[in-house]
Amino acid sequence: MADPDPADSSRVWTVLVARRLLPAGLERLAGQCEIREGGLEATADELLELAPGVDAIVADPTVAVTDALLEAAGHTLRVVANFAVGYDNVDLEACRRRGVTVTNTPDVLTNATAELALALSLAAARHMSEAEADLRGGRWRGFDPGAYLGAELSGATFGIVGMGRIGRRYAELVAGLAGEIIYTSRTRKAATERELGARQVPLEELLDGADVVSLHLPATADTIGLVGAQELFAMKATAVLVNTSRGPLVDSTALAGALREGEIGAAGLDVYEHEPDVPTALLEAPHCVLLPHIGSATTRSRDGMARLVADNVLAVLRGAEPPNRVA
Ligand code: GLV
Repeated sequence: MADPDPADSSRVWTVLVARRLLPAGLERLAGQCEIREGGLEATADELLELAPGVDAIVADPTVAVTDALLEAAGHTLRVVANFAVGYDNVDLEACRRRGVTVTNTPDVLTNATAELALALSLAAARHMSEAEADLRGGRWRGFDPGAYLGAELSGATFGIVGMGRIGRRYAELVAGLAGEIIYTSRTRKAATERELGARQVPLEELLDGADVVSLHLPATADTIGLVGAQELFAMKATAVLVNTSRGPLVDSTALAGALREGEIGAAGLDVYEHEPDVPTALLEAPHCVLLPHIGSATTRSRDGMARLVADNVLAVLRGAEPPNRVA
């Protein structure tokens, strides 16, 4: 039997939602797509079983889109739409080889993620997790002039590693606090320098001079392990490290050690190398605020992401250029 004509507008496509797609996205697919949903607990093997014959796969950062999954989907597969701006979970080469389009969800989560980086900067600097844990644990004995002494960020030098969309928004948000904004980037950001007075510096200079180091880079072969023992040692003993990008950028064992030894002042993390596992060393480290990957978790942002996922899927299946192609 001949394959169905992809341009046939009456056709109902099959979409594998590997885990979960919010109603804002499902509503857009309704009527034109039949959904196979893996659910939040779906294993890699279950996804392989659900994949045969699908036209699209909706993934998220927890879903490894491997060559084996693409193979299981077969020749009907035309698009992998990732519910995230980062796409390190997708084997791009395998998708390219098989002519499968890959899309992501930029912009709609920029503000939410930058706001969370700001929140983590302040929360870590002021040791909020420990203070709240003491209160909830019944250990608070009342106002103590010497307890929970943290750092003020007014007048601080903010070091932004990666001046893409989220880095730039974080720079805007901290501009009112910052004494100085320094940044690293592959390319010079003239507008950000002009508008926010930011200054591009090499990473070594940023680590040496920043009171807050906030990471805003994707996980790639070049960035994995970017912050290890040496980089932590190079930071100020009072510095705050913030990571809302991807866990593998930071060596968590080295970070836990640096916090224990007082080589840096505090850390605020939203991402981990092997999520949802959080290394015990980090759980036990002092002055460390730990969040469960919620950078984009606002209703506005997540609904926007869900809509973009649906728009990308439908565009590719209708033979049009998707709004957010990454491969
Ligand atoms: C979330 O982690 C994202 O990359 O959007």
